[in-house]
Amino acid sequence: MKVCIIGASGKLGKYMVQHALDRGYEVVGVCRERSVNKLDAFKDRITIIPGATNDREIIKKAVAGCNGILTVLVPWGNQHYSTGTAQAVLNFAPPGARLIFSCGWHITRDGKDVYPPSLQREEKIARWITHIVPFIDLDDQIEACRRIFKSATRWTVVRGSDLEEGESQGLPVWSHHVGDPILASNLTRRVDYALFMVEALTNDALIHEAPAIVGCRAPSALTHAIIH
Ligand SMILES: NC(=O)c1ccc[n+]([C@@H]2O[C@H](COP(=O)([O-])OP(=O)(O)OC[C@H]3O[C@@H](n4cnc5c(N)ncnc54)[C@H](OP(=O)(O)O)[C@@H]3O)[C@@H](O)[C@H]2O)c1
Repeated sequence: MKVCIIGASGKLGKYMVQHALDRGYEVVGVCRERSVNKLDAFKDRITIIPGATNDREIIKKAVAGCNGILTVLVPWGNQHYSTGTAQAVLNFAPPGARLIFSCGWHITRDGKDVYPPSLQREEKIARWITHIVPFIDLDDQIEACRRIFKSATRWTVVRGSDLEEGESQGLPVWSHHVGDPILASNLTRRVDYALFMVEALTNDALIHEAPAIVGCRAPSALTHAIIH
């Protein structure tokens, strides 16, 4: 399998590169020019295409010939960056490719997610702060995902809980809606979020799903274990 990782130099991206290499996949990584050195540990084993991940020509070149595309939807900045990235991937992905996108729990596909008061408060505060200093754009990921959900491509949108660093605990569990009891712990190891993204490439049951994930050893996952 030939896999393109868009946003390869970030924390999630580097874990995805490692998981993909562990599976023997051929990897093409896209990252900002100034971040290329963050991929030094992999430079002899992957192809790196430097450039903005919302640059359509860069994405067109990077995804050519790929069967799988893993895209980090970046929450930073105020340039509609995530929307630009997602649109370019949707436009230029080879027909039939599996497209996996990362985002947060705040994305809802059908409006049936039930958010705990703490998350609602966090979003309100984030919106208030970014109104003054626009360092993140919550609505950009929302627009990016709206376009993905409408697309006829073979997409999966993986909605991450709060993240922590640490050793892998195994493949996270997932549910359709935030608010489902299995997700209550709201914590996943970042390395396992990356694992879920990479595993999704070969899991056709996740096509046209927006799984909300939580660590498989989180208390709520252990209490409410279900098998998908
Ligand atoms: N952090 C969380 O708690 C959390 C929770 C749930 C879901 N998620 C999702 O997980 C994914 C990865 O998030 P992460 O927090 O783990 O961060 P991350 O993997 O470090 O990713 C950040 C990405 O954003 C890029 N970036 C940073 N500043 C930028 C800017 N101003 N303009 C353009 N690109 C910029 C980085 O590129 P460079 O390497 O070039 O800097 C990197 O590719 C995201 O889709 C996020 O929505 C995160």
